[in-house]
Amino acid sequence: MLVGPPGAGKGTQAGILCERLSIPQISTGDMLRAAQAAGELPGELARQMAEGGLLPDEVVLELIDKRLRADDCRDGFLLDGFPRTTAQATGLDGILGNQGAAIDVVVALEVPANQLIERAVYRRADKKTGKIYHLKSNPPPAGVELEHRSDDHEDVVRQRIENYEAMTAELLPFYEARGVLRRVDGVGDVQTVAERVRAVLPPD
Ligand code: AP5
Repeated sequence: MLVGPPGAGKGTQAGILCERLSIPQISTGDMLRAAQAAGELPGELARQMAEGGLLPDEVVLELIDKRLRADDCRDGFLLDGFPRTTAQATGLDGILGNQGAAIDVVVALEVPANQLIERAVYRRADKKTGKIYHLKSNPPPAGVELEHRSDDHEDVVRQRIENYEAMTAELLPFYEARGVLRRVDGVGDVQTVAERVRAVLPPD
């Protein structure tokens, strides 16, 4: 599981890890954006997302319960951005318990707020592939059609960071008490952070 504030690099590191371990990346943010693009996300939930609020626990738990039953999750998976509340974490325990599975490691990426804002505000994604870029530190090649997330504007990013501090930070003691939490410094170039993440994981 990858935990961290908005812009900490969860999606970036998840992409690297999932490719190396050949496991699916399960991002509730990506799933919710896909539902929205398909016109399947109720307007009220789309509005909450655009304003940087967390969606109701039961909505994301239902998505996760369904997703983790898929065949490609049998040999493991990486959760990116889920759970975010202790209610989601206990809901996840129930889902995993039914499947005889458990979380091995929770990697918490730590990045100071000023850098989070810079990272999120200049983030763009390739419209076709979803690949993540940063207009300053990792610019896209010419000709790529880019998407700017509606919640990546500075005021909304600040709101998301506040929500993280208020809600998601509760999760760290929850997993620390289980002995599975690993805190990783998320400041540094992407490869340096990837090496730090690798160093706290069990051997392949
Ligand atoms: P979600 O999509 O999960 O957003 P988030 O948690 O706010 O995280 P981000 O995607 O913004 O950042 P990231 O850590 O993945 O960073 P990234 O790798 O892209 O959720 C969006 C919304 O959906 C929520 O606000 C909520 O409304 C809803 N939602 C989702 N899950 C939910 C849940 N469980 N419960 C309730 N609601 C939920 O990197 C960011 C930028 O930095 C990129 O430009 C990247 O290129 C750059 N970068 C990455 N690493 C580095 C580095 N080491 N150095 C420099 N730049 C870097």
